[in-house]
Amino acid sequence: MSTHDRLLIIDFGSQVTQLIARRLRELNVYCEIHPYQNVTDAFLADFAPKAVIFSGGPDSVTRDGSPRPPQSVYTMGVPILGICYGQQVMMQDLGGRVEGGKISGGGGTAEFGRAYVEPKGRHDDLLFGWFLDGREQVWMSHGDHVSKLAPGFEVYGTSPNAPFAITGNPARHFYAVQFHPEVHHTPNGKTLYENFVRLAGFTGDWTMGAYREEAIQKIRDQVGNAHVICGLSGGVDSSVTAILLHEAIGDQLTCVFVDHGLLRQNEAEEVVSMFRDHYNIKLIHADERELFLGELDGVTDPEVKRKTIGRLFIDVFQNYANQIEDAEFLAQGTLYPDVIESVSFSGGPSVTIKSHHNVGGLPEKMGLKLVEPLRELFKDEVRALGHELGLPASFIGRHPFPGPGLAIRCPGEITREKLEILRQADAVYIDQIRRHGLYDEIWQAFVAILPVRTVGVMGDGRTYDYACALRAVTSVDGMTADYYPFSHDFLGETATRIINEVQGINRVTYDITSKPPGTIEWE
Ligand code: XMP
Repeated sequence: MSTHDRLLIIDFGSQVTQLIARRLRELNVYCEIHPYQNVTDAFLADFAPKAVIFSGGPDSVTRDGSPRPPQSVYTMGVPILGICYGQQVMMQDLGGRVEGGKISGGGGTAEFGRAYVEPKGRHDDLLFGWFLDGREQVWMSHGDHVSKLAPGFEVYGTSPNAPFAITGNPARHFYAVQFHPEVHHTPNGKTLYENFVRLAGFTGDWTMGAYREEAIQKIRDQVGNAHVICGLSGGVDSSVTAILLHEAIGDQLTCVFVDHGLLRQNEAEEVVSMFRDHYNIKLIHADERELFLGELDGVTDPEVKRKTIGRLFIDVFQNYANQIEDAEFLAQGTLYPDVIESVSFSGGPSVTIKSHHNVGGLPEKMGLKLVEPLRELFKDEVRALGHELGLPASFIGRHPFPGPGLAIRCPGEITREKLEILRQADAVYIDQIRRHGLYDEIWQAFVAILPVRTVGVMGDGRTYDYACALRAVTSVDGMTADYYPFSHDFLGETATRIINEVQGINRVTYDITSKPPGTIEWE
């Protein structure tokens, strides 16, 4: 049983509910997001939150059957903060009134975008650090609005279109705001959350040091004396999973690292030496380069490449795992955003743009149970945990690398020759980025080798070699991305180095496509 204080976020379907959790975690407050349908009286009693936040949402409380929390949430005696739709829910439930807003025109009160809130009345605890310059910029996104406050509520802030922008019932510690304090466009929003959790009595006890101890105990309780298999890719998630498990159960853990021949320069050696030599983790290095590259011979279609690699990966992994005696568990580096997505009620099935390569389906196929020690963490928390576990910063801060590896950076046919050229060009490019101190500013950077040869001239001779494309993007989560604005000097210097140092490339281009409409990878 966890020992830290817990905050419950009831999700009414807002696009930005995850950001509320992010803001709170940054304040060292442990919180979980649960869709309103799952939050029953029994759930509330079991979860025992120290405070509750109602998220925003797309519905209208004026509609019969619109999403609501169980009424017992109001009688638990814990502070509640309602955001946007959450404010309207609170007002409607507690005896106020909500009206549908007109989108625009005379008297319309719907509001989308930036607005300014001015103080009214006083609540020094909730609004500590607010209104220091007179007014605060906030982000509004609502159709409906509260037209009458519930009994016991006061107004602390107003905007031209939202007379009840900030409201509260201080006796019950219920607070509600019309805007979204969790988004970037409410610059002082974090302070509001900070004030709320402080007045709710949170002490900020959610730290990675505490998490580490707790996670280790949980793993021991779950696994007992059984053996665990962990697929290690060298990425941050699987690395942290492996190290944490190793701390918890030592030699009961065996990692399997599959080298599919599509890794970057020196990557396999680095991963093996780090985990086997440095951490002393039992590691099977599955050198299956011939198998993968053989099957990929002549394959040019991106989806066929991905499916082939995914299928082989599962076969290979299963083969090696079968050799580990008494294996009962499979460890996976599932993160909290994956968990939330899978229970989200608002998102319909999203379109498959590219089939992702993962080990989904493996546990059932192999009759294994899952251990997922990172299920409660966001990506940056995984990095913090990695740091706590002594993983070198150079490893923790590494750019993401896709499961199918260089295969999807080699449009057209994959040959050993092209892969070797690609590896060398990529190494020079990343070296350039590091030398210029840009690595940490960039979400992901890599070279793609293009399936064309072009004519060039070097020295006195004509060349006919491959062209390559450099890619570098900034992104928050990989879902959208902007190309990185390198200086022309940097691009020129890098192109010169690649052409001089890598035999087989005589032309370098820079990909300036953002996502959308492009994707980050080329295939
Ligand atoms: P795209 O190319 O879809 O990539 O814009 C978004 C992010 O996902 C990574 N990516 C993958 N990661 N297996 C992975 O583990 C895959 O099949 C895969 N495809 C893309 C990509 O590198 C980027 O960070």
